[in-house]
Amino acid sequence: MYLPGHPKYTLYHMVSLTNKRILLGVTGGIAAYKSADVVRRLRDAGAEVRVVMTRAAAEFITPLTMQAVSGHPAHRHLLDAQAESGMGHIELARWADAVLVAPASANFIAKLAQGLADDLLSTLCLASGAALAVAPAMNRQMWDNPATQANLATLQKNGVRIFGPGSGAQACGETGAGRMIDPLELVTLTAAMFETGELDGLDVLVTAGPTWEPIDPVRVITNRSSGKMGYAVAKAAMEAGARVTLISGPTALAPPARVECLRVMTAQEMFDAVQARIAAANIFIGAAAVADYRPAQAAAGKIKKTADTLQLNLVRNPDILASVAARTPAPFVVGFAAETDDLERNAVAKLQAKHADLVAANLVGRPGSGFECDDNRLMLVEADGTVELPLLSKERAARELIHHIAVRYHAKNPAENPRLAHRQ
Ligand SMILES: Cc1cc2nc3c(=O)[nH]c(=O)nc-3n(C[C@H](O)[C@H](O)[C@H](O)COP(=O)(O)O)c2cc1C
Repeated sequence: MYLPGHPKYTLYHMVSLTNKRILLGVTGGIAAYKSADVVRRLRDAGAEVRVVMTRAAAEFITPLTMQAVSGHPAHRHLLDAQAESGMGHIELARWADAVLVAPASANFIAKLAQGLADDLLSTLCLASGAALAVAPAMNRQMWDNPATQANLATLQKNGVRIFGPGSGAQACGETGAGRMIDPLELVTLTAAMFETGELDGLDVLVTAGPTWEPIDPVRVITNRSSGKMGYAVAKAAMEAGARVTLISGPTALAPPARVECLRVMTAQEMFDAVQARIAAANIFIGAAAVADYRPAQAAAGKIKKTADTLQLNLVRNPDILASVAARTPAPFVVGFAAETDDLERNAVAKLQAKHADLVAANLVGRPGSGFECDDNRLMLVEADGTVELPLLSKERAARELIHHIAVRYHAKNPAENPRLAHRQ
């Protein structure tokens, strides 16, 4: 449970929620007037925020206010045919990287502890696999009530984070525990939800983006990789506590904060950069879409449009993934497979051919998942089986992948961190 004033949570200047999708639930309590400020602070930290209000919450603060501060209509009704055809409850549940209920009423905490789903917010909380936190806000007596305390204990056992409460003078005139903690502190704690510590102290090397293979000084052979998946993986590894080096082909993306980024252009340059850094890596994640072939010789000057046809002679590029897996000792090796069909069969073949520990496979060439978009559906293929993740934002898919890698890494290397060896 969070203790107000704990030194770990007082460093506001470091807080970043860039690209994080936060679903803010607002329930019916006096502190609901502060939730507009919570939205503002979350957005200041870089988060995209959607608001879901209970019926009681709308008695304390208007949906219009929450719409104005979040930039999106506040969602309120579960049984709303119009909303279901747009962003319905399951889509909202999937959309969120984290759900923060602030303020959380005693009633809502009780519902959550019981697994009730009789309004939009409680249904969302039940339907979402995203991390969930509640910021209780209530009168001192309600807080101290054994029923409330038992409900909070249930939530904690179920992995729900409890942010606060603070104590002091209350709206009801009493003094004691039960105040919602300050919006800035909530933002700091929300950011900390993404920091898992699962890869604490480990070195992770990630490749991302496409490569450019020069044909002449103005033209290249490349592919449609945007780099978003690899950058999200680098960020998720950093948030899990790893020291991360990102070797990136040409992309328009800004490297994540606290990640060392080396920029390269060609597959050969990426290969060389990986070789230079791999010895220190505990985990290698090859998310780059590396060109398999390059022109045998790039022309010194621009090739002129004179002939009707033009033949390029291509030669094989070095295989980065296989070269890393062939090392002794080898790091934990994760490859990516972008396939247009026969996803699992191709991924298994890649796993075996490259001697990787894990292949994260995704279908490409279809709208809505894979290259050049924000979502991805990953299939995690290992020697002992396959795990299919649902369609998720690339950020969320990356966090799921990193969690999976961490579990497998610690199971394979139990002596390094016995505390994490049995985590699932
Ligand atoms: C003026 C007023 C203030 C209230 N403040 C709180 C509060 O701070 N915390 C709380 O848990 N309930 C408070 N309640 C009670 C809740 O509004 C009530 O339990 C409601 O059913 C909560 O609904 P919800 O959990 O669906 O939002 C208050 C009620 C009123 C009338």
